[in-house]
Amino acid sequence: MADGRTIDIAPSILSADFSRLGEEIAAVERGGATILHVDVMDGHFVPNITVGLPVVKSLARSTHLPIDAHLMISEPGRYAEQFVVAGAQMVSVHVEADAHLHRTLMSIKRAGAQAGIVLNPATSLSEIEEAIQFSDYVLVMSVNPGFGGQEFIPASISKVRRLRRMIDERGLHTRIEIDGGIDRTNIEQVVAAGAEMIVAGSAIFGAGDPEVAARQLREATVQWV
Ligand code: DX5
Ligand code: ZN
Repeated sequence: MADGRTIDIAPSILSADFSRLGEEIAAVERGGATILHVDVMDGHFVPNITVGLPVVKSLARSTHLPIDAHLMISEPGRYAEQFVVAGAQMVSVHVEADAHLHRTLMSIKRAGAQAGIVLNPATSLSEIEEAIQFSDYVLVMSVNPGFGGQEFIPASISKVRRLRRMIDERGLHTRIEIDGGIDRTNIEQVVAAGAEMIVAGSAIFGAGDPEVAARQLREATVQWV
């Protein structure tokens, strides 16, 4: 199914050693990563707290990879634009967290970044029927957001396939990202279903050598590149 799509490998720094973040990122750059996924959690929308604007700002100065800020926060509209100013080239917000999604997506685009919509595993694609046209990408969560190292939810594959159909039927150019529980055993399946940006945390930074792990994931998708 080599249909000319570009497949991006997006390591999630959530599973990296934060005391050596620069080295960890340099390793995945060497391993062929093309996006850096940064998980922002507020301890409110999800039951965990991670990093925020200052970290994105420092990372933007130290890596040439585009930064993909995945906002797992309540009222993302209050902060989305600030993440673009801090240096994120992609900012995504959860449909479950935002009553004013159009406004938030537009603020991200106006600030100069790509705007993404994220769906939790139990959120139906019908929730984004209208909003999808305002987004540059849709992120399908294949675990419940909040933690790295969780088990992949198999129903996500059919969700990606249905989302792909929805995008194609509408003649949109929206890209599909997937996040959670991706490793060498399932990456081919999610890419075959239509995902183009593949987030992986523990499969990359939980492995002995993140450079090798990133390269192996990349190579597993090579027939689609
Ligand atoms: C989960 C985060 C993910 C997480 C993925 O809430 O959004 O980006 O880091 O980690 P793995 O790949 O270990 O499931
Ligand atoms: Zn994420």
